[in-house]
Amino acid sequence: PRTAAVIPAAGRGVRLGPGAPKALRALNGTPMLIHAVRAMAASRAVSLVVVVAPPDGAPEVKTLLADHALPGGTPSGSWGSTDFLVVPGGATRQESVKLGLDALPQGIDIVLVHDAARPLVPVDTVDGVIEAVRDGAPAVVPALPVADTVKEVEPAAPGEPEPVVATPERARLRAVQTPQGFDRATLLRAHEAVVVGEGATDCAGLVERLGEPVVLVPGHEEAFKVTRPLDLVLAEAVLARRRA
Ligand code: C5P
Repeated sequence: PRTAAVIPAAGRGVRLGPGAPKALRALNGTPMLIHAVRAMAASRAVSLVVVVAPPDGAPEVKTLLADHALPGGTPSGSWGSTDFLVVPGGATRQESVKLGLDALPQGIDIVLVHDAARPLVPVDTVDGVIEAVRDGAPAVVPALPVADTVKEVEPAAPGEPEPVVATPERARLRAVQTPQGFDRATLLRAHEAVVVGEGATDCAGLVERLGEPVVLVPGHEEAFKVTRPLDLVLAEAVLARRRA
């Protein structure tokens, strides 16, 4: 079965502070998105990467990918044996993913969805997800236990203290990462079934609503999401350690 990776990279990255769209910010001199594309292309199973660019940023992202093409790739469409496509994104992550799915050619039957904001996911994690889909799971999510105790709260007015509603048992909670892997037809069905205003923050959440099983495989610490300024410090430290 042929595998493609869709990388939503259209977010503004507001929590990271002012500046360029998050995916285009540099980690050790290379844009986060390029690290994320390389992380997907590192898997021998991934034959196509679809990058979902900021709505007005597709030409810029195309140029960026061409500039970072590996030797052996063609300037416009491939890195070594991995092809890539760039499409403009939407207003939410979910819309951006759907636009990426719509661009997939025939012949792809496994789809990974990977955040540009998780640039350092190791290839073993990517391959583990693909393998679990190949073994028959329609939806596969890399996950780790949570370190913090998590509280559910009642939303409060800004500046008011938030009342706690519940404390879910920590041992039963998992923090989920990407790439999430799917049987293509299942993921498409999940996106088509979305009711307006009832989105999910990850694709697996949509598959759960179909009533299809979602399974977890071990995630990796280095697949963390670069969200806040401190995450940039951590990401550069991981890169420096890899080079040492
Ligand atoms: O905002 P968050 O960190 O959850 O974003 C996760 C991923 O979704 C990021 O890679 C971001 O670029 C992407 N995204 C997108 N389109 C949006 C919003 C977020 O592709 N409208």
